[in-house]
Amino acid sequence: MVKIAPSILSADFSRLGEEIRAVEKAGADWIHLDIMDGHFVPNITFGAPVVKSIRKTSGLYFDAHLMVHNPDAFFEDFVRAGVDGITIHQEASLHLDRSIQAIKALGVKAGVSLNPATPVQTIEHLLPQLDLVLVMSVNPGFGGQHFIEYTRDKIKALKAIKAAKGFTFIIEVDGGVVPENAAILRESGAEVLVAGSAIYHKDDYKAAIDALRSRP
Ligand code: DX5
Ligand code: ZN
Repeated sequence: MVKIAPSILSADFSRLGEEIRAVEKAGADWIHLDIMDGHFVPNITFGAPVVKSIRKTSGLYFDAHLMVHNPDAFFEDFVRAGVDGITIHQEASLHLDRSIQAIKALGVKAGVSLNPATPVQTIEHLLPQLDLVLVMSVNPGFGGQHFIEYTRDKIKALKAIKAAKGFTFIIEVDGGVVPENAAILRESGAEVLVAGSAIYHKDDYKAAIDALRSRP
């Protein structure tokens, strides 16, 4: 069964704790944390102090998506703040293998994210070590963008490699996920659907999550 990971990027930041409790009550599986530094992406969001304080509001899996340059500098802070997994960008890490080992050594799940134009082949040799691969289906930096169709080919490729080699990484997709494309994404191999605006910009979070999870 697919997991739904609301991105709090589209939540009302003045009521962040309530917004997290609300999606948990509405059936969310994970909470997706979009960490942006204004350098790797043209936007700034929030850092470890905010994560530490919202950690108290929910027991759900905290899925940290680091859209930052030099991500290694922040691993310890985010783990101390209580995240369950850290995903870094292939494009932001000079020594990806070292970075993944560093995340794992801190006792949390380790993932790599690929920008839309970055081929799956760039992480081919790392796949056996990864807990998660995050396929970006928009150019990272902002919520509410349109899904880039060709990224679905990468989801399918990852699903095929995973099945052929018996790897265990989870396939997650992030950006422009809406009820209208959720079914095809699930069929293509996505196991976690991240959604910001398709949940937080709706009045009924439960209906929004249910639609992503099971609308045919
Ligand atoms: C984009 C972020 C996404 C984004 C998704 O840089 O990584 O998680 O918040 O937002 P929607 O679902 O609105 O495209
Ligand atoms: Zn994200």
